[in-house]
Amino acid sequence: MNKKIAVIGAGNVGATTAMYLAEANFADVVLVDIIEGTPQGKGLDLCQAGPVRGYNGMVTGTNKMKDIKGADIVIMTAGLPRKPGMSREDLLNMNADIVGGVAKNIKKFAPKSTVIVVSNPLDLMTFHMQKVTGFPANRVLGQAGVLDSTRMRTFIAMELGVAMTDVQAMVLGGHGDTMVPLPRYTTVSGVPIAELIPADRIKAIAKRTAGGGGEIVKLLKTGSAYYAPAAASVQMCRAIFNDEKKVLAASASLTGQYGIKNIYIGVPVVLGAKGVEKILELKLNKGELKSLQGSASTYKEHLKIMGYK
Ligand code: LAC
Repeated sequence: MNKKIAVIGAGNVGATTAMYLAEANFADVVLVDIIEGTPQGKGLDLCQAGPVRGYNGMVTGTNKMKDIKGADIVIMTAGLPRKPGMSREDLLNMNADIVGGVAKNIKKFAPKSTVIVVSNPLDLMTFHMQKVTGFPANRVLGQAGVLDSTRMRTFIAMELGVAMTDVQAMVLGGHGDTMVPLPRYTTVSGVPIAELIPADRIKAIAKRTAGGGGEIVKLLKTGSAYYAPAAASVQMCRAIFNDEKKVLAASASLTGQYGIKNIYIGVPVVLGAKGVEKILELKLNKGELKSLQGSASTYKEHLKIMGYK
């Protein structure tokens, strides 16, 4: 294959991302981790699944960041996951160091890449990645909105007993407690959910969506979700590779949209070969806008803790 994707971190999210990428069959994958043997072992194992699963891309494991050279896309998954009772923001300092170190290497070895950040706290780590790499903001984005939206889609499908793929949902804001699910922009094959689900159930679904990651952390006890986060990252990769101009929610750098600037936060974007090609400004009602701006101001406080003004 002549396209290359680097996945940083060979833990559950990274390895599952590599697996879905291999199955998607559009690029070779380089899996990087500091633990000796882990990326190599998982890479080899994934290659050996290829003849049976019907894919031909190579998955190579390495401990050296220089092996990401020439990567078209880098997916950053490394970092500590949450334990039960922790918020994503509790990971701030530890993961900022990890993301900062990796960012320097991405800048050095894959200066033309587009970077998708998955490490938590997501919106803050995406901001940090963009600052340390110095890449144009359209080439650094965070994976959260696709994950949060797919969770909401799933819950709505469960509620109605309809196909999950027929549900479209829009979830904005930070990937955390201040997440902003938008039931008004959520439909089942074009039918607004307000026509199908009573208001109190919609409220409960929005709440479950916002706590969707925590629900899984609580169940797993030793880490956070990885199948849906990995699937969401691969959908974003595909949109960039195939220049799909796909409309997805992603953490993007705002420059005044929604009255917010100098921050990364979840908004609807058009995703294509140039990365974030456009940020869509939905008409939000007062309450929705207030929630989104509230989410942004929480992160501004966290950025100050990280030393950003
Ligand atoms: C979640 C983590 C990965 O939402 O942020 O599951």
